[in-house]
Amino acid sequence: MGEKMGNLRRTMMCGELRPEHAGKEVVLMGWVQRERNLGSIIFVDLRDTTGICQIVFDNTVSDEVFSKAEKVRAEYVLAIRGKVRIRQSINKEIPTGEVEVLAEELRILDESETPPIYIKDDDNVSESMRLKYRYLDLRKPSMQERLKVRAKTAKVVRDFLSENNFIEVETPMLTKPTPEGARDYLVPSRVNPGEFYALPQSPQIMKQLLMIAGMDRYYQIVKCFRDEDLRANRQPEFTQIDIEMSFVDMEDVMAINEKLIHRIFKEIKGIEIELPIRRMTYKEAMERYGVDKPDLRFGFELVNISDIVENSGFRVFSQTIENNGSVRGINVKGYGDRFTRKDISSLEEYAKTYGAKGLAWIKITDEGVSSPIAKFLGEEELSNILTRMNGDKGDLLLFVADKDPVVFDSLGNLRNEVARRLEILDPEELKLVWITEFPLFEYDEEENRYVAKHHPFTHPMDEDIDLLETHPEKVRAKAYDIVINGEEMGGGSIRINNSDLQKRMFKALGFTEEEAMEKFGFLIEAFKYGAPPHGGIAYGFDRLIMLLTNTSNIRDVIAFPKTQSATCLMTNAPTTVSDDQLKEVHIKLDIE
Ligand code: AMO
Ligand code: AMP
Repeated sequence: MGEKMGNLRRTMMCGELRPEHAGKEVVLMGWVQRERNLGSIIFVDLRDTTGICQIVFDNTVSDEVFSKAEKVRAEYVLAIRGKVRIRQSINKEIPTGEVEVLAEELRILDESETPPIYIKDDDNVSESMRLKYRYLDLRKPSMQERLKVRAKTAKVVRDFLSENNFIEVETPMLTKPTPEGARDYLVPSRVNPGEFYALPQSPQIMKQLLMIAGMDRYYQIVKCFRDEDLRANRQPEFTQIDIEMSFVDMEDVMAINEKLIHRIFKEIKGIEIELPIRRMTYKEAMERYGVDKPDLRFGFELVNISDIVENSGFRVFSQTIENNGSVRGINVKGYGDRFTRKDISSLEEYAKTYGAKGLAWIKITDEGVSSPIAKFLGEEELSNILTRMNGDKGDLLLFVADKDPVVFDSLGNLRNEVARRLEILDPEELKLVWITEFPLFEYDEEENRYVAKHHPFTHPMDEDIDLLETHPEKVRAKAYDIVINGEEMGGGSIRINNSDLQKRMFKALGFTEEEAMEKFGFLIEAFKYGAPPHGGIAYGFDRLIMLLTNTSNIRDVIAFPKTQSATCLMTNAPTTVSDDQLKEVHIKLDIE
């Protein structure tokens, strides 16, 4: 049974104690990190959200307090009153290490069973245990620190945006399907049998309606829900910084967002981001890096050698060109000796997960060229490849031959994988880039039609509008992504604000007018009553915090995250529900 705090009130935080407080009486409250009983003296490390300090129980001070202190174990919750004094043996490892508190009074506010995980950062416990006992895991200083950075970043964002006349408006969670293209989370309606709400994949339509409503500048730090396959940087519910502005074109949106990004890095990391942020077209990004979110911290750029190997004796290459594909390679410059044949076959397996049929390679060593394909290549051909790829002693050249999308996807991702394996990525180095001029559409092989690359309200580039009907694949969008160190941090666009253009867009997407009306009728209707030119952006807030706190696991920056299979190990959500509850929402289950 815990004791009451009674008249004791906390006067200081554990992590705040310094030599200047020596002689002062303090009341501290917190958890026991560890305790050491030396017989006539007991040391307790007491922890709260600010840090840890040492408490001393001495049996010459009070027998009663001392015998109570003997019962104290890890994670007990204590209130202690005592005097600060300078320590005999100074601990340089912690900020409070020069002082300790000699306890005169102790209250055990709550006891604790032996915790199933240590409250320590390097405890090597499985992540599933951490998630099951999340409230214990969150007691760790590193986890508390990440949540503090998260809160501070949200404040910096709110301060900046409200200084710039953005108004925070909440939008509904129970809504209609939104246009981001992932699967929806559905919520059954009790009062409307057979009908469902969708949780928003983003507030996209609502923020556009707020512009039509004359709000001028809107923002929201908001939960979004997407039922998609999860990865290290994806959660089914995640948070966006969502922004929309009226009477703007691309440059205006990008300019104010550069200032926002500058402010965030300055206030959170003390780093001055150089403005303006570099820009790269989608086309250039694909050609040079194979992906639309290039990591610019290292080279190994893609090189097209199609023209050189067009008539190659290596049939894999020449046939690919014949079938309208391409052959491209990367030069892992200077790191050739870091990859054995076995390493290269593991890289080949990696490239195959992105659809490549193989991975051809040339290693340039002291003994000359080593390569399984060299024997098929003419002398001049080989020498042209080496020249084109700037191949030198110590280099490893890796090639994929296929249709462009497969070459880009496999080589682009391989490029990142090679850098990861070489451990040459410096997390402190920041490379920001805007990717612009995205294609408006992409072809969906399964559905056999064009789909919107961003979403169906994205404005085409003015000079490409006339290609909508004739060459949809050539139309570029007024869309922009902000990419930092190879991660897509945010993306947005200028929106269509004219019903005729919107109709042409829906038509190009293969929607009939009825389908468009059924899905987004209320937005199309709203456009009839005066819509200002508008555009915006949304940032992945969790991803931003990952970057700011230097973690590659999105779950590290979310207090109560979901697993890869979208479950919560702490609450056991999702769960089955009672028949009565199902009946109430008019649902009959039919599962195998
Ligand atoms: P988009 O779909 O690109 O744009 O999303 C914006 C940003 O949100 C982050 N993000 C995610 N983060 C974690 N888990 C996920 N499952 C997840 N999905 C996306 C990414 C991404 O850049 N309405 C538009 C924005 C606009 O046009 O204004 C939108 O949602 O960092
Ligand atoms: P093979 O003749 O199939 O044994 O292939 C010889 C080499 O070419 C191996 O290193 C394969 O990985 C590589 N290779 C096969 N297909 C491709 C391809 N489409 N692109 C690049 N390399 C390939």
